[in-house]
Amino acid sequence: KMAQSALFIIFGGTGDLAYRKLYPSLFRLYEKGYLKDDFAVIGTARRPWTDEHYHEVVMNAIADDGHESDRTNSELAHKFASHFYYQSHNVNDTEHYVALRNLADKLDAKYNLKGNRIYYLAMAPRFFGTIAGHLKSEKLITDHGYNRLIIEKPFGRDLQTAKDLNDAISAAFSEEQIYRIDHYLGKEAIQSIAALRFGNEVIGSLWNKAHIDNIQITLAESLGVEERAGYYETAGALRDMVQNHILQIVSLLTMEEPKAYTASELRDRKVEALRNIKIYSPEEALQNFVRGQYGEDADHEQLDYRHEEGTDENSQIETFVAGKLETESPSLAGVPIYVRTGKRLAQKSTQISIVFKDLKQNIFANSESDTKLAQNVLTLFIEPDQGYRFDINVKSGEQSYGVMPIHLDYHKSAAKKAKVPEAYEKLIHDALDGNRTNFAHWHEVAQAWRIVDVVRKTWDKQDADFPNYVSGTMGPEAAEELLRRDHRTWVYNP
Ligand code: BG6
Repeated sequence: KMAQSALFIIFGGTGDLAYRKLYPSLFRLYEKGYLKDDFAVIGTARRPWTDEHYHEVVMNAIADDGHESDRTNSELAHKFASHFYYQSHNVNDTEHYVALRNLADKLDAKYNLKGNRIYYLAMAPRFFGTIAGHLKSEKLITDHGYNRLIIEKPFGRDLQTAKDLNDAISAAFSEEQIYRIDHYLGKEAIQSIAALRFGNEVIGSLWNKAHIDNIQITLAESLGVEERAGYYETAGALRDMVQNHILQIVSLLTMEEPKAYTASELRDRKVEALRNIKIYSPEEALQNFVRGQYGEDADHEQLDYRHEEGTDENSQIETFVAGKLETESPSLAGVPIYVRTGKRLAQKSTQISIVFKDLKQNIFANSESDTKLAQNVLTLFIEPDQGYRFDINVKSGEQSYGVMPIHLDYHKSAAKKAKVPEAYEKLIHDALDGNRTNFAHWHEVAQAWRIVDVVRKTWDKQDADFPNYVSGTMGPEAAEELLRRDHRTWVYNP
């Protein structure tokens, strides 16, 4: 492993994301030697912080994240924090970019950074265009190293605003320089989908419409909106989780086999997969998508969404979505994909189930015990549990010849899980490496908006009957009905 030379310029350096994810991730890369002497970080934001204060913040961030005790005051943490510089910054003020460039050039020489720069926009997207434009016009972009722009969602609120945003940043950065973060793509178990599908004869040969009955994806959260009502009231679950995380997972599950596991092959197959998802008419959208908003829990201890801090008392924002997607991909055409996500559900769990078809013939049907055969189901546990379960049928172990289902189970141990790099660490590492495999391409983002825009616009025309689910359950009854009408049920049913 080679230590990298790079300057990080973090816009939104005083923010929550930087504190909770970026500083700890950078530290872990430092601990592992992937960052060593030749790196520096400039944090910018409006607040007037000193470098000393910034160092304290960075060390606190490391400590708060710490699995190991005493990381804060370790010599390593001090040394790490000394690479951080703070520059107070107003994103609209041209002069401030000049100051930023001067500091960047100084650090480039001091730390031997070879002109490599990573601009991390950890702030509201309405500033992305302004920042990108100034980085170019004020010549922060170097010509002797790489320049990469990492941006966080939301990439717009519909296709049109996403396009505007993309045009604005594309005026300064090429697609190859843009790294759109979808942190689900940094999760080990999501990255493992390709290995599972294309690294196993048994699974690969069954992954098609002849054998798969339906696919189910659940991203359940137990937490409510927390302190993020300001953002959430402008988003809702469809934009917050379906447009990005869920559709990225759908593309990985339904894409055709890439020729090789490379960024460009993968991107082409994923774009194809998303283009194969049917765009619904407004009527179809209403039939195939369900929205929900949480009420109080059964014990009346948790607030309903409309009484959370910062939400509108008549809020029409959905905290739950369930939907049925249809694909026209050659190998999976006709296999329904059921997706759901929501806040304040029964448990935090992300899981994917591949439900296989019933056997065409059941030779045990007439045996003494009148055996019904359960469907084979392959479940991928993404988080917090990481593992796999395969449900198969075996003899029941009684005198008569009965057949019963059992689970083949594999779950990563806590020790193994602790070794898996956290999503942000993985993605920052990839960005340093210039590896775009696990970042979202513009074509993917645009197509995902086309898919959800119809649903959004249809919903926006009608008032919802909210709240419509009890906190701590798995969402509104209509989400169960969505499968029941197809004579199916959700596999995950806590
Ligand atoms: C984020 C959403 O993208 O993902 C949040 O904005 C959500 O609303 C979060 O809570 C869930 O991520 P994870 O990794 O905890 O499943």
